[in-house]
Amino acid sequence: MKDKLEQILKEFRSGLETLSQQPQILKYKSDALGKNGQLSQILKSLKDLSNEERKVVGPLANKIKEEMNQLVASKLKEIEVQEINQKLEQNKIDITDRMVNRSNSLCHGGLHPTSLIQREIEDIFISMGFEVLDGPHIEDDYHNFEALNIPSDHPARDMQDTFWFQTEDGVRKFLLRTHTSTIQVRGMKDRKPPFRFIAPGKVFRCERTDASHEMVFHQLEGMMVGEDISIGHLIYFMKTVLKEIFKKEVEVRLRPGFFPFVEPGFELDIRCLICGGKGCSVCKQTGWVELLPCGMVHPRVLEAGGIDPQKYNGYAFGLGLDRLVMMRYGIDDIRHLHSADLRFISQFKDF
Ligand code: DAH
Repeated sequence: MKDKLEQILKEFRSGLETLSQQPQILKYKSDALGKNGQLSQILKSLKDLSNEERKVVGPLANKIKEEMNQLVASKLKEIEVQEINQKLEQNKIDITDRMVNRSNSLCHGGLHPTSLIQREIEDIFISMGFEVLDGPHIEDDYHNFEALNIPSDHPARDMQDTFWFQTEDGVRKFLLRTHTSTIQVRGMKDRKPPFRFIAPGKVFRCERTDASHEMVFHQLEGMMVGEDISIGHLIYFMKTVLKEIFKKEVEVRLRPGFFPFVEPGFELDIRCLICGGKGCSVCKQTGWVELLPCGMVHPRVLEAGGIDPQKYNGYAFGLGLDRLVMMRYGIDDIRHLHSADLRFISQFKDF
């Protein structure tokens, strides 16, 4: 009986070696170890053996069964590894390889239109004495809301659909920043007036997307703080920047706008450059595009930044970078910007 068991294992092993497909192997295993398999027959016949024999054959049969299971498991693992390696080999990309186009000339990448515009605007602001700051994408409630005069019960929180991170206790603490205004307080804390800075970057909102809305988009925050800063300064700087960006005088209008972190607050609109003011999907048929919310920094926000509002004041603005890119290049749908479609992206090479 012992020899028979050894023989079963030996045959099972050599049979297994000839197989290379997962379904065949699984069938082979269930045939061998199933009810009608030789091993099961032996286990069934244990009752007919003497006590002595049973003590030897029983454990041995179980040991062999276990070994067969293990042989199958390692065979399957081996096949899986082989398949992965095969796939890796087939899909291998040589990232050092140079790409040539149909006419056999060398191709190389370029900057995304949003990066191009961002760099250009940074240069304009740097030339006007602004610093360029950066801040974290994952923010806390304090910097995104509290410090900007938006306490937890403030209805203005509903203006921004926020992606919150889940916490174990269910309390909302961390979020993906909904605006670059988060950098206002961080920037103020590290500086003494007078100062001026901009902070460009990605922002995130849980919104339905359409031709002019995306869940991830770009803003460029700006802030200037000092003594006797006025709305006149704000308008002067904004008009100068827009003229530089569009390389021509751009028609603008100021409307009152509400933002808890500025008082008074404004909406600066520009005449739609896609349709010239006739009405299109970008300007929602109004002829005007909301480009620049802005205002005079609220005294509470200055205080949160450690600045005495009796002595200093300032202006702030939040430029919608993607809208600007669309205006500049005549793009009529914001979703193109994140499409990663090379036919679109390769039109903007900076060379
Ligand atoms: N953070 C605002 C938003 O995303 C935009 C904004 C409005 C920024 C007014 C400002 C400002 O600095 O003064 O909707």
